[in-house]
Amino acid sequence: MTSQAQTPQPMSFAILRNTHEVFRKSIALMGEILDKGTLGEFRQEWVNFRRCRATHLAMEENAVFSLLDEVGDGAITEAGLGQEHIEDFENAVLVEQATTADEVARAFEVWKKFQLGHLAHEERVMGPLTMKTAPTPAGRGRVVQERLVLPAIAHGDFDWYLAFTIARLTAYGTAEQPPAIAVRVFAWGLQYASTPEQWSQWKNIVQENTTADIWLEMVEKFQIDGDGKIAD
Ligand SMILES: [Fe+2]
Repeated sequence: MTSQAQTPQPMSFAILRNTHEVFRKSIALMGEILDKGTLGEFRQEWVNFRRCRATHLAMEENAVFSLLDEVGDGAITEAGLGQEHIEDFENAVLVEQATTADEVARAFEVWKKFQLGHLAHEERVMGPLTMKTAPTPAGRGRVVQERLVLPAIAHGDFDWYLAFTIARLTAYGTAEQPPAIAVRVFAWGLQYASTPEQWSQWKNIVQENTTADIWLEMVEKFQIDGDGKIAD
């Protein structure tokens, strides 16, 4: 193992990656709910998913997508990721228009298959390109502030998005990370992509939506209660 593998680095683009993990868990939860046939509960989780996804889309469309097209010679456009968002949206409308439990379950299966494929496709195409946006973690933090965080704020629902994402990572972790690591990777990455003013607000949302143990560990090992790292 290299020393870099032993020393964690802040990864601001992990905001996108760990939001994908929140989506995957939400999709799994919706599947379980539908198996029980409780449509009201399903629609509640569907609304959560769509609301979280709206901020995520604000980070991607006309934001990270164009950035990665710039550093990747048009790789995002060539992969058709924006086009996939349109198809996903059309599938989602069919879920919302379905009325009976059977219709909803059928529309959900179609939507789910495409959505999961899309998330994996984005990760394959976007993951390597994010490293080309700046040579250092701090540099990538600045890029994420400008090309991802600011467009997400402009969407107007950032505080809810942050609370929801942290609460879900706290409850479930990710496929590869236990909750403490999943929350730390996201929050530390965001701290490196935040101004001191932004982080003075957002760190409170992180603390309120995770456990006391996870918060304390992040404070002790990662100074998560310190300043946002982007100078004004
Ligand atoms: Fe995405």
